[in-house]
Amino acid sequence: MKLYKTKIQGTGKYHPEKVLTNEELSKTVDTSDEWITQRTGIKERRISDLSKDEHPSGMAARAAKEAMKNAGWEPNDVDCILFATTIPDMMLPNTASMLQAALGITNNCACLDVNAACTGWLYGLQMANSLIQTGVYKKVLLVGTEMASGFNNWEDRSTCVLFGDGSGVTALEAQEGDSESFILDSILGSDSSKRMALAMPNGAAMSPITHEILDNKEQYITMDGQVVFKNAVKTMASHCSTLLRRNGLTNDDIDWFIPHQANLRIIETVGKLLDFPAERVITNVQKYANTSSATIPTAMHEAVMDGRIKRGQKVMLAAFGAGLTSGAAILQF
Ligand code: COA
Repeated sequence: MKLYKTKIQGTGKYHPEKVLTNEELSKTVDTSDEWITQRTGIKERRISDLSKDEHPSGMAARAAKEAMKNAGWEPNDVDCILFATTIPDMMLPNTASMLQAALGITNNCACLDVNAACTGWLYGLQMANSLIQTGVYKKVLLVGTEMASGFNNWEDRSTCVLFGDGSGVTALEAQEGDSESFILDSILGSDSSKRMALAMPNGAAMSPITHEILDNKEQYITMDGQVVFKNAVKTMASHCSTLLRRNGLTNDDIDWFIPHQANLRIIETVGKLLDFPAERVITNVQKYANTSSATIPTAMHEAVMDGRIKRGQKVMLAAFGAGLTSGAAILQF
């Protein structure tokens, strides 16, 4: 079978216009800029406005148009949309189909949502790479988009300070023959023994919304922050070490490291465990907080646009999230 390589042909991102700073948040919930900055590194986040169509498919449409423009694609070039999100537009139809409509794609391309929480975009990357390598699809639009703001308990200081809204889209294209751009390797996993450490247990099939749930404000995210923190550090560091080892690489071979942007302390701890130079770690959690599946593609887009990431450079990615899912990848941009 003929094998193709997967090139990131274009990137794009969108964050809602409305900025919510730590200072502003501390006026409505019992927290402070000092606490949030010290414990997470976050200074501000973006909050969606539904009247401006800043719902998941609306944000993704803006990011996708930029990614497709940068890739030189027309809407009907797209063979498949993989839409990583935890927060869909609706329960049905899937958000990938909503995006197909928003982009004016009329070729009936494949549309699939991927829910692996904050690891969703990395899960989508491995799937897209497999589909492209084997010749099933030539052009895949890989989306990471979240609108946590609508599902945050804005009275729960232990979670509401952490999340923000946004979208990152990557246009992935098949390459024949020699290509300096390809996905070198990836690794995914999930530790379901800790699945309830980060959850939204009510509002779906096992526990439909009731008046009691709404009265008790139990429709929101629940989290054991320390379990998630420890697991995040352990899995991201070990996945990256495995990928480096099995590809015969060292930190010196990696130009940039883009870890999932949940917490600067997690990022710094992973960097120390890997002994990876801090100046080659890309972060944007300070500006956008944790935008879940959108963090890696938005951080990558920013670094491509400002000239840090260049063609042919090696980039290492790592993420973790509810599940508890985790993963890592190394690509040559
Ligand atoms: N403002 C002020 N105080 C807060 C606070 C806030 N926003 N949130 C919690 N606190 C308080 C707690 O009530 C606790 O007070 P106490 O000591 O009087 O009981 C104290 O701060 C310490 O809380 P703790 O939960 O132990 O803090 P922490 O150092 O573990 O930091 C997180 C909390 C959530 C920042 C950290 O655990 C974390 O980042 N975990 C990973 C979360 C994550 O990444 N989730 C998304 C995964 S994709």
